[in-house]
Amino acid sequence: MIDTTLNPHVIGRGASPTLAINERTKALAARGRDVYRLGFGQSPFPVPARVVESLRANAAAKDYDPSRGLPELRDAVAGWFRRRGVEAHADNVVIGPGSKELIFLVQLARNSELLLPSPSWVSYAPQAGVLGLPVTWIPTDMEGRWSPTPEALAHACATPPTRPRLLLLNSPSNPTGVSLRGPQLAALAEVARQHRVLVLSDEIYGELDHAGAHVSMASHYPEGTIVTGGLSKWCGAGGWRLGTALFPPGLRWLQEAVVGLASETYSTAAAPIQRAAITAYAGGDDLDLYVVRSRRIMAALGQAVTRRLTDARVHVASPDGGFYLFPEFGHYREALAQRDITTGSELCERLLEDTGVALLPGAPFGRPVAELSARLSYVDFDGAAALDAVASSAEGPVDDAFLQRHCGRVLEGATRIGAWLRG
Ligand SMILES: Cc1ncc(COP(=O)(O)O)c(C=O)c1O
Repeated sequence: MIDTTLNPHVIGRGASPTLAINERTKALAARGRDVYRLGFGQSPFPVPARVVESLRANAAAKDYDPSRGLPELRDAVAGWFRRRGVEAHADNVVIGPGSKELIFLVQLARNSELLLPSPSWVSYAPQAGVLGLPVTWIPTDMEGRWSPTPEALAHACATPPTRPRLLLLNSPSNPTGVSLRGPQLAALAEVARQHRVLVLSDEIYGELDHAGAHVSMASHYPEGTIVTGGLSKWCGAGGWRLGTALFPPGLRWLQEAVVGLASETYSTAAAPIQRAAITAYAGGDDLDLYVVRSRRIMAALGQAVTRRLTDARVHVASPDGGFYLFPEFGHYREALAQRDITTGSELCERLLEDTGVALLPGAPFGRPVAELSARLSYVDFDGAAALDAVASSAEGPVDDAFLQRHCGRVLEGATRIGAWLRG
């Protein structure tokens, strides 16, 4: 029974589907099933040793820090951005317990329509829904590498022309693994500027662009872009809960509103974590090497999985960064229909039952229910061992033999998908 005092925006909302698949695969594994965990997407890599050491050294830090974040950390984050060619000052940085929370507070603080490319990460639209904010999906397609075009953005901004809007971009993307490159960002920036649309650019996978070629939307639209990120992906520290937001100086009113909301909700990010994060954002040769090695492994593995899927006649955009692929199984629509599989979620259910391979269906990412698409996370391997192997090979090649040895379960998962489709 639903209590009538439940907020109507909250009724019917379950747990985030990414967390739900994690629970489900854990339960199957606990029952002795061999599960290939290609559903949940957390970094396979350990937190770099020097950053862990810094956390240990700061374990006794116990006082509340300022709601906007520790000044030394905001300074380190600004320096990190400047080293990447993005104008930044500590005054414009806000620290929070994960970027997910900061994205939510930006949406809460600004009463605007959310523009989302389809597909987009699972939590953006539910956050808007909880706040009672309208969401408009911007269509994309496989042929266009799932990236929004300036024309589609302009169309979404056309009626009514004056409504406040927030465009959420995510590059490299979860769920597609595709990065937006300079000319695409420049063209989108032009439309956003014309229509006075603010951009929230979720760049949490930016460091993990496989070629190290990430470009921030803030380089193209500095006056209208809020950049979010954090330690969860490039530093392997999702459970530490540390996120960052960089605001343009001209959006101080919005930044201060977010800080006010922070002070009334979570108060501040955890004190020891903020101190360890200073070490992470200050950088150093060891951290650079850690990121370069992580990229090399993910780049090779992403391509190897893409090849296996493509060989099995699955449509998939080859990835530019991060941990994800967004395969589309339309080639098998008729064959699958004969097996009573007509939706992305039926496909994922049956694949898990029959092969032990866990994927997430495309629908929670904003795709049509009947589309046979899914998100695949290629992270089911021991990242610490893989990093050690790259180091002990004197930075030798990350080739098929390497991947078979260190990421064999991911490759086996991809092979099983192909065999299951053909069967
Ligand atoms: C695209 C994207 N944005 C944001 C987040 C949230 O990151 P955080 O751990 O900083 O809250 C994730 C985590 O999975 C993500 O994939």
